[in-house]
Amino acid sequence: MFSLKHKTALVTGGASGIGAAIAETFVQAGATVWIADRNEEDGRAHARRIGGKFISLDVASETDCVQAAQTVGALDILANIAGIGHVGTLLNTTSADLDRLYAVNVRGIFNGCKAFAPAMLERKAGSVINMASIGGIVAVRERLAYTTTKFAVVGLTKALALDHSHTGVRFNCVCPGRVETPFVLARLKEYPDPEVAYRDMASTQLNGRMIRPEEIAAAVLYLAADESAMVTGSSLIIDGGWSAGK
Ligand code: NAI
Repeated sequence: MFSLKHKTALVTGGASGIGAAIAETFVQAGATVWIADRNEEDGRAHARRIGGKFISLDVASETDCVQAAQTVGALDILANIAGIGHVGTLLNTTSADLDRLYAVNVRGIFNGCKAFAPAMLERKAGSVINMASIGGIVAVRERLAYTTTKFAVVGLTKALALDHSHTGVRFNCVCPGRVETPFVLARLKEYPDPEVAYRDMASTQLNGRMIRPEEIAAAVLYLAADESAMVTGSSLIIDGGWSAGK
């Protein structure tokens, strides 16, 4: 198991799903962990359960992120996980939908980096892990706005790494396939037959099952730990083979 002893980490979107699993894994690895989420009730409850701390913030707000950085102080690990989804093709995606997704999924990560990365750059150490998606590697059907934002996250991560990794600060992103979280389960209710929809979603992974949040957290733990010192600018795909081919 990789150790994060003596390290301080902050996980945006840590109140639910993948972020919640990452926060718990980081605590188990010995880190002091801040959960940063706009869902105060679930965030506080999860922080209490795992022995972490909680701070309320909307990642789309630059002011919230700057204030959070003032409260939390310097970090060793920043996991920008908060994100939202949208189902639609060009015909049923509005420019407002695109802006809303962009504000959280892309500007949210930019804001997180802007608020917390300068202290890492000053200390010449740190690991930033951004949440992209398999939708940042290949397009996902009927997810026009979502795919657009996740390709942007991959690009943002590479640009950050290129400009700053000579300092020792690393920037990587993870690209999961379908992970069984409230985010995905809520979508299922919108389909005429949720059971069929669940099986369809599970079948995008070659072994026919959904990914567990802990399986993404394990990959993020590796990117957070010193053992991945030579990994930066990368997009780690954890998709059960979804993008391997057709
Ligand atoms: P989730 O809905 O279970 O959790 C998302 C968390 O982010 C929630 O706690 C929510 O309150 C928080 N959040 C959302 N917008 C926020 C904002 N503006 N400010 C602060 N917190 C905010 O979702 P899940 O499935 O855990 O997804 C997390 C991330 O993983 C997202 O970025 C998503 O795009 C990405 N992802 C999810 C996949 C999946 O199959 N579940 C696959 C690939 C990527």
